[in-house]
Amino acid sequence: MSVATIPPAASAAADTLRSEATSGLEGAITVPGDKSISHRALILGGLAEGETRISGLLEGQDVLDTAAAVRALGASVERRGGVWHVTGAEWRSPGAVIDCGNSGTGVRLLMGAVAGLPVRATFTGDESLRGRPMGRVLDPLREMGARFEGGDRLPVTVEGGGLRGLRFVNEKASAQVKSAILLAGLHADGAVEVIEPKPSRDHSEIMLRAFGADVEIEEKEEGRIALLGPQRRLRATDIAVPADPSSAAFPLVAALIVPGSEVTVRGMLLNPLRIGLLASLEAMGARLRIDNRRLQGGEAVGDVTAVHSLMRGAEIPAVRAPSMIDEYPILAVAAAFANGPTVMHGLAELRVKESDRLAAILAGLGACGVEARSEGDTLIVEGKGEAPAGGGTVSTHGDHRIAMSFLALGLAARRPVTVDRAGMIATSFPGFSELMRSLGARIGAPA
Ligand code: S3P
Repeated sequence: MSVATIPPAASAAADTLRSEATSGLEGAITVPGDKSISHRALILGGLAEGETRISGLLEGQDVLDTAAAVRALGASVERRGGVWHVTGAEWRSPGAVIDCGNSGTGVRLLMGAVAGLPVRATFTGDESLRGRPMGRVLDPLREMGARFEGGDRLPVTVEGGGLRGLRFVNEKASAQVKSAILLAGLHADGAVEVIEPKPSRDHSEIMLRAFGADVEIEEKEEGRIALLGPQRRLRATDIAVPADPSSAAFPLVAALIVPGSEVTVRGMLLNPLRIGLLASLEAMGARLRIDNRRLQGGEAVGDVTAVHSLMRGAEIPAVRAPSMIDEYPILAVAAAFANGPTVMHGLAELRVKESDRLAAILAGLGACGVEARSEGDTLIVEGKGEAPAGGGTVSTHGDHRIAMSFLALGLAARRPVTVDRAGMIATSFPGFSELMRSLGARIGAPA
């Protein structure tokens, strides 16, 4: 099948969405598959011997772009009856530039995988991705022996092959950087070791093991160490992708702030390195419940229920940032309804996401009548324990998570909230508005 693309909006107005106060959200839903796991399943499947079958793959534009890239690099990628079949092959230099669209994970992991192989490939992305730093991945890969044309920004041409080992300290706690090194390391000569003083999400390590590679994890004083062992050949396996906690965050927080709500997200990924948001919300007094805990493909999952709660402000420590790095926009929305200040520390990385999220959160809260400020890498939201005014038009800067966060805010604010460029939501959460409407949310095109 051909890989679908987001249709261009007929006009800027057609790409605008508005949310209005709702009396209560109710229901049990399934949100799309985890984005991080989906990218990795396609890439590892494309490198492995045999056919990998992936169920529950996120069919958002970011992941579809990775599917197209893996195919362009020589693997077979097909969707049949809702299951994705990936047959690995020896990767070859593609005939055209690989466009990873909006996806930092896609491009950084793919550049890592290509760096290990005798392949030459040029990568680019949309305007947002072309503005994001790539040096964090290129520098360690260069130390391993890969060659690049281009600087810290895309487009970048990778000339892979002939790599040596590396011992790397991942100071930024970036799972994308760690994963790029591990993927390159699959074809490197020598020990490959990534040390993390602050551990980042470990889906690459878990999935590499599922594909038969040796990956050892050691907890030492210097941090958590991921070490590639001598067995680095990948064999196909079947992957069932759990529901994405970074997407579940929107309906769950919406339920916490809309009076009279009770919403359950089924089968949500509960990997401890991904659920910092739940800990933060609990510290704010949120009523959350986890039922039916189980294992799915080596990952913990469960059904998470959120009930409307009167929350209080809290201090969110910097050590928690890696486990909730994509959830600060929606946590800031929860904080806008809480009683007292919520102080979020250690947010430097938010400045280099799909947008400068620290700036986008502050501007969006301001447009909705919420008092907030930043002090260095700290964000402070002054909740008043009541519904904020709303009524603003929020500029999303083309950032899917900013769009969904402020649509959630509008569901419980005194006046409706409008967001621009809402089409970008389809990069990570296709069907977001429809799913929210199925719970009773009032989200739609402005009249
Ligand atoms: C991701 C890692 C995080 C996160 C991104 C997905 C991944 O980025 O923000 O959405 O799948 O590895 P960093 O590695 O830059 O922290």
